[in-house]
Amino acid sequence: MSTNLSPSAQSQTTPYQPITEAIADRLRAIIGDKYVIFGDDERLEPYSHDEIADPSYARMPECVVRPDNTTEIAAILRMANEEHFPVTPRGAGSGLSGGAVPLFGGVVLLCDRMNRVIDFDRDNLTITVEPGMVTNEINDLVADDGLFYAGYPMSVETCFIGGNVAENAGGGKAVKYGVTGRYVIGLEVVTPKGEIMQLGGKLIKDVAGLNLLSLMTGSEGTLGIFTKITLRLVPAPRASVDLLVLFPTMAEAIQLVPKLMSVGGVVPTAIEFMDKLSVQAACQYLNETIPYDKAGAMLLITCDGTSASQVETDYESIGNLCVKNNAIEVYVADNHTTSERIWRIRRNIAEAFKVQSPIQSLEDIVVPTASIPAMVEGIERIMAKYDVQIPCYGHAGDGNLHATPVINPTWSQAEWDRKLPSILNEMYLLTYELGGSITGEHGVGHKRIADMERFGDPVFLETMRAIKKALDPNLILNPGKIVTVE
Ligand code: LAC
Ligand code: ZN
Repeated sequence: MSTNLSPSAQSQTTPYQPITEAIADRLRAIIGDKYVIFGDDERLEPYSHDEIADPSYARMPECVVRPDNTTEIAAILRMANEEHFPVTPRGAGSGLSGGAVPLFGGVVLLCDRMNRVIDFDRDNLTITVEPGMVTNEINDLVADDGLFYAGYPMSVETCFIGGNVAENAGGGKAVKYGVTGRYVIGLEVVTPKGEIMQLGGKLIKDVAGLNLLSLMTGSEGTLGIFTKITLRLVPAPRASVDLLVLFPTMAEAIQLVPKLMSVGGVVPTAIEFMDKLSVQAACQYLNETIPYDKAGAMLLITCDGTSASQVETDYESIGNLCVKNNAIEVYVADNHTTSERIWRIRRNIAEAFKVQSPIQSLEDIVVPTASIPAMVEGIERIMAKYDVQIPCYGHAGDGNLHATPVINPTWSQAEWDRKLPSILNEMYLLTYELGGSITGEHGVGHKRIADMERFGDPVFLETMRAIKKALDPNLILNPGKIVTVE
């Protein structure tokens, strides 16, 4: 038996009924013997956690099911209501707030077998897929038709589109293209009670009734399980160039971000920020070499558009602005291989830190873009006050930073456990003072549920509770996430 769960993660009393052999048999009857994992801790353990580094957020499922279709999922949810056991939907498990962690045990419902394309409609520029499709595969499928799906989470090579919709994932192209929700125009949803609901379709405009598509997108698996997802596609850019811009200090790099957005007259596709520690960690992890020693921080800026000449005009204007504002060097990546090399470094920072400093807390704070320099300044003050490193990287053009406190090597675990809540509290207070929020893309899950209660508007919290109770009166779908409900 191999498990990395701490004792507290394993022993959890729950208000739910345990999964008995009889319940497991009924699940087997619905989906087939080989798609039910029960009574085998070694095979259940991988579904006890997502990508959060701290094992204390993990909880063991009692059972894992891998349904094949909507009808099976609906039957499982009806049974969960009858027998009163919790069901936690799970995509690829690449989340970072515990959304797919079965907080009260019960059943983890994996969507991995549901990875089919239902419909690719070239005339209407839509694709309808099942939730278990890997996000990158959508782009592979539509590329030959000159189309693309604009969502680009950093885990794009492994994450599932169902998880992206559940978390309303953001990512690297949101400055120009927005986040997942902008592209979700139709959903088939299995409700917590086990009914099947159709929302939207292939319509660009539709105001018949409340906008439940928006309610479902980002509901973190608490209000429904998506079984079909219709996405709007857009014409793929004909040209794209990345600039890797080196600055002497963090402050010089970050101060330019609001200007890049407002002065240049260009909407870049991406403005990513990486401090020296972040680039160094990713380069060491990937055995890559880019000249991070020369710079205190870097911006990775993408411009895309309809022609090479338009993109050239745009990136020259941005590059000039960088040079006028103390950039040490502007590297231009105008071919796929070089661009991919740089983006691979950016995409692997989180994983590199997880390997380098597993005792850490990957955060996801977000402020209005003009306040991002003030946020970085505030984080530098918190670092000095607590004598702790908080490497920063992320989607600066969206005001969204992955400030990641990592343990000071001279501290004991107990010291870290005592100090981390104060460090996070100061970071969140700073964020709210600047008009921001505790999470821009990773979600609340159970990792931030106490902070949500603390910082969220009370009427907003009460409204979310009322919605949850109305849709899921027995609280069987992913309980213990986003907001506490009695
Ligand atoms: C990223 C993940 C951590 O931006 O959201 O790398
Ligand atoms: Zn991110």
